[in-house]
Amino acid sequence: MTMNRFPDNFLWGASTSSHQVEGDNLYNNWWEWEKSGQIEPSGKACDHYHRFKEDFRIAKELGHNTHRLGIEWSRLEKDEGVWDPKEWDHYKEVIDELIRLKIEPIVTLNHFTLPLWLAGKGGWENDDIIRSFSEFAKKAVQELGSRVRYWITINEPLMLAFIAYFQGKWPPFKRDLDSMLYVTNNMLKAHVEAYQKMHEASNTGSGIRAPEVGIAKAVATFHPCSKYSISDRISAFLRANFKDHSFIRSALSGRSRFFPYINEKLPFKRSLDFIGLNYYYREFVHHKNPVLKNPFGWICSGAHHRDAGKRTTVGWEIYPAGLYEVVRSFSRYRLPIIITENGLSTRDDTLRREFIKEHLVYLLRAIKEGAPVRGYLHWSLLDNFEWSEGYDPRFGLVHVDYKSQKRTIRESARYYASIIRSGQIQ
Ligand code: FCB
Repeated sequence: MTMNRFPDNFLWGASTSSHQVEGDNLYNNWWEWEKSGQIEPSGKACDHYHRFKEDFRIAKELGHNTHRLGIEWSRLEKDEGVWDPKEWDHYKEVIDELIRLKIEPIVTLNHFTLPLWLAGKGGWENDDIIRSFSEFAKKAVQELGSRVRYWITINEPLMLAFIAYFQGKWPPFKRDLDSMLYVTNNMLKAHVEAYQKMHEASNTGSGIRAPEVGIAKAVATFHPCSKYSISDRISAFLRANFKDHSFIRSALSGRSRFFPYINEKLPFKRSLDFIGLNYYYREFVHHKNPVLKNPFGWICSGAHHRDAGKRTTVGWEIYPAGLYEVVRSFSRYRLPIIITENGLSTRDDTLRREFIKEHLVYLLRAIKEGAPVRGYLHWSLLDNFEWSEGYDPRFGLVHVDYKSQKRTIRESARYYASIIRSGQIQ
């Protein structure tokens, strides 16, 4: 292929998640933590729960033909086993609005937050979650499946397991390797069960669209801390080619393998219809002791790397070629790839424009070389609640004034719109 433009029918848009934009998500474990006063509370967030029509109008004006959104489990199932029909109706209305605007919805079922009743039972550490989550996924297809084709079961499973169960920085604040691994495996099992039930539900229900079910996987690109260190290079290679692929490889092979700890048969194989990639930054890997322990080495802060790119306000290195590298790496499964998140926190809109341009240059290069990329979703449509970082980071194509809830489209968003319109990078 020699064409210099993105394919026709390319999915273009932006991503959000329920807790980060909706406001007043009173019944989940994040809201509970926010009440402790240890972090900035999400409060009304972008009040997207009520302002979704205005927000989707903006997305339409910007030429988006796709939008990734979350449905908030804790609203839909406030108590175990009890669905709230009003909340299902709400999401039907939300999704109908997208459809009316000819914007394809991509729906995430779980984006970090858990209903309080489930968190109270041990959340991802309790095996019950496999059934609870897969029942939720089935119900979602029954309720919304005539409208929705693309589904993401779990957002960034390993990231959540790492931050919440190993680093102890997010609820439930565990600092335990065993918990992290257990949770990772439960997320995989929950995904696999959900995948199965979603497909079954679509076969039995009338008028349900054949679902395409994936996960959104956080991916970094890994480079050796020192090009001259063999052990650094080996560790970076192992991270990029084995560790970072473990969840996807397990979901496809039907065997859960998180080297060297878990090796377990799963009930089903090939539990992915597409791969969602969330790409933000490069990591530098070092390994002082090549013989002992941890073949994957350690992540260095990167602060002393003189050739590193600019950093965003949350400290992530901007490294556009990394998008090309991860797409190439995940193309090996020959499944469709959707970039389900890519973006930056900055107050410098020129930097956002450059970021978009350069990442899309690399994405187009991967596509021209045959990578099966179906879409690109920028993170995020709106400035929003950035988890424990609160409202300071600005990730939006659209600026939000949280006091007045006024939306202002940034120039970078218009630039992105011009690429969408022409299919070419100007
Ligand atoms: C990703 C999360 C998303 C958002 C971006 C900045 O890891 O999936 O919710 O916070 O980072």
